[in-house]
Amino acid sequence: MRKICVINQKGGVGKTTTTISLAAGLAKKNKKVLVIDLDPQGNINTHFCLPADKTMYDVLVNGEDPEDAIQHVTEFLHIIPSNSKLSEAEMILAGVSSRETVLKRALQSITRYDYVIVDCPPSISLLNQNALLYAHEAFIPVATEYLALDALKKMQSTIDEINELFGHNLQITMVIPTMYDKRIKSSIQVLGEIKKGFSDLVSQPIRVNSKLKEAPGKGTTIFEYAKSCNGAKDYMKLTEKVIKAEYYY
Ligand SMILES: Nc1ncnc2c1ncn2[C@@H]1O[C@H](COP(=O)(O)OP(=O)(O)O)[C@@H](O)[C@H]1O
Ligand SMILES: [Mg+2]
Repeated sequence: MRKICVINQKGGVGKTTTTISLAAGLAKKNKKVLVIDLDPQGNINTHFCLPADKTMYDVLVNGEDPEDAIQHVTEFLHIIPSNSKLSEAEMILAGVSSRETVLKRALQSITRYDYVIVDCPPSISLLNQNALLYAHEAFIPVATEYLALDALKKMQSTIDEINELFGHNLQITMVIPTMYDKRIKSSIQVLGEIKKGFSDLVSQPIRVNSKLKEAPGKGTTIFEYAKSCNGAKDYMKLTEKVIKAEYYY
């Protein structure tokens, strides 16, 4: 089972879009996928028009069985939602012993999926530390714009620190350039810089595509909403690259 966190301390870089589209792509390829929403803004269930009855708050704070919080989007795509209450978890967990590994312990019975993908909030919070210590792989969406590389380097050093401090072995296994627009010079330039820094780990860029903005409002994924748009094509290419790297199991 591959345990992946989709993380970047910057907001608005495409973490949630990537989590949902990649999870949907993998599910289309008959992979069993569980998406964990770890962002108190709780976008994942609203994206699929599902309620948030039991959430990650209940799992992390009340010790509820994560199985009871799982919701089925399709046979292959399942989610555990979150809502704004999760921001309170941050404070409550601060007082718990081994507070950085609450998620890892809470999810240890979950082993029946091919992929667990954690959508992380922006900023380096206790919730994100929990995500980093649960996952084996970090996927980092990075907007192809000014200061993108800075955010990427910061993420790398945060991961190095966490690994050293906790004897963990999280690796960045995918860097995903997002919001790519080849008509904009800086977009091309930043993509070049990202490739220089992370070479084979860099996926094909995800192009700017308005359909990706519209899909959530329709309660569906990009593959159902507009299957031949650039957003769907780019996320399917990413899905195929991710599946090819299954040696990370
Ligand atoms: N490739 C893209 N092209 C156009 N809009 C995008 C693209 N990727 C994401 N968006 C939009 O940008 C906004 C931020 O994306 P989101 O995935 O929510 O970022 P994050 O989770 O990192 O905060 C959303 O409105 C989303 O629909
Ligand atoms: Mg998000």
